[in-house]
Amino acid sequence: MNLISILDILQGYIQIDSEVYIQGWVKTRRDSKLGISFLILYDGSCIDCLQIIANKSLINYKKDILSLTTGCSIRVTGYLKKSLKNKQKYEIQAKKIEILGKIKNPDTYPISSKYHTTEYLRKFLHLRPRTYLIGAITRIRHVLSKSIHQFMHEQGFFWISTPLITSIDTEGSGKMFNVSSLNLNNSICSKKIKFNNDFFGKEVFLTVSGQLAGESYACALSKIYTFGPTFRAEHSNTRRHLSEFWMIEPEMAFYTLEDAINLAEEMLKYVSQEILIHSYDDINFIYKGTKNTVYKHLNQLITKNFIHIDYTEVINILMYHENIFKNKISWGMDLSFEHECYLTEKYFQKPIIIKNYPKNIKAFYMRINDDLKTVSSMDIILPGVGEIIGGSQREERIQELDKRLEEFNLNKKEYKLYRDLRKYGTVPHSGFGLGLERLIMYITGIRNIRDVIPFPRTFNNIDF
Ligand code: 4AD
Ligand code: MG
Repeated sequence: MNLISILDILQGYIQIDSEVYIQGWVKTRRDSKLGISFLILYDGSCIDCLQIIANKSLINYKKDILSLTTGCSIRVTGYLKKSLKNKQKYEIQAKKIEILGKIKNPDTYPISSKYHTTEYLRKFLHLRPRTYLIGAITRIRHVLSKSIHQFMHEQGFFWISTPLITSIDTEGSGKMFNVSSLNLNNSICSKKIKFNNDFFGKEVFLTVSGQLAGESYACALSKIYTFGPTFRAEHSNTRRHLSEFWMIEPEMAFYTLEDAINLAEEMLKYVSQEILIHSYDDINFIYKGTKNTVYKHLNQLITKNFIHIDYTEVINILMYHENIFKNKISWGMDLSFEHECYLTEKYFQKPIIIKNYPKNIKAFYMRINDDLKTVSSMDIILPGVGEIIGGSQREERIQELDKRLEEFNLNKKEYKLYRDLRKYGTVPHSGFGLGLERLIMYITGIRNIRDVIPFPRTFNNIDF
């Protein structure tokens, strides 16, 4: 007898009347006067549960079954039956039910079968995956990650694992976490930390982006991507920022900015379609539960063409409507979230791609445009979520790159490997970074980024 999942049963792979063996956690128990208990069992393989019929003839009926509460784990051996009354097609007539884990004091179990707010669930990061909502988000996250890998593979990209521990500041912003094996208490006592005594003999950090390492492989294998965690020591305590988040960074030799934009649009359309096909039940659950605009969001990505617009034009639009914003805006400034929302939700009412930002508000590696004021850059902005993709054509000319490093006060020596790529067989190339959690937020309509990653790390907040 094989161990099977609820998904196996609901997909119709198992013959009616055959003996099955299934395990999971009890959601609810209802007892009839006739000595039959109906257990609703969940195993996380899909959004649905399975009804287990437990009859008083089971040897442990009185002792165990009648004391089962939400969250208890059980192993059921029984016969698969067609369900007549239940809204589901199948149920299991139990022959034997073993109790794997009881809950001694059910009053202390934080996840009842009732509705809990996402704020409440965040206090129980280790138990919240047992809820329907977090289960659905987790499966969607899996399907999304898989479809991104699939898209990249079909497009001829190679997945590169870039290092998480690094000595360089990819974005040049200085917002990095130090990595050290020194006893910091002792080191801080001596005022200046001597990093040459540290594990790597120099100061090192958790990476903010795999891009610079990615470029080295793109300038050899032509099309690569990274897919991994990145870390930012920003003090932004918003519903859209994490200190540890996952990023997908495609990097393409011989691509212009426009080529990169086309790839990004295609990728968003492809993965949205995959989600609609493979995560239909989970999406449907979230849609019904929260009455949000999940389908609208997915369709928006699949069917609508994104607006392509220059930064300068965007500033003109925003300045024309300046009295509706809290934050003033003028040419040279970065957009704030309220500006992004206005553009995507009111003005254009669709995703937008903003191009050619001023060089002073973007990273040193972006290719300088002929106007010498802007860089060949792009951000993709979605309604409700804001920026989900940031990318650019890279500065492939060594003299121009050196000028930018100087402007940013960055030490040329630290960027030796990066500069070498420009010295030895340089090529035009482009790439972008897609924030995985921001995309999940958009696809699911979940408003807080802390609910779309298993164990969120944010400013002043780390559990587990
Ligand atoms: O715009 P960013 O900072 O770009 C880079 O890191 C480039 N190196 C990417 C590249 O060209 N290869 O970040 C890219 C995306 C953002 O658009 C956003 O979706 C996400 O990463 N992101 C965050 N997501 C959650 N929390 C944060 N603190 C984030 N910071 C950026
Ligand atoms: Mg950005």
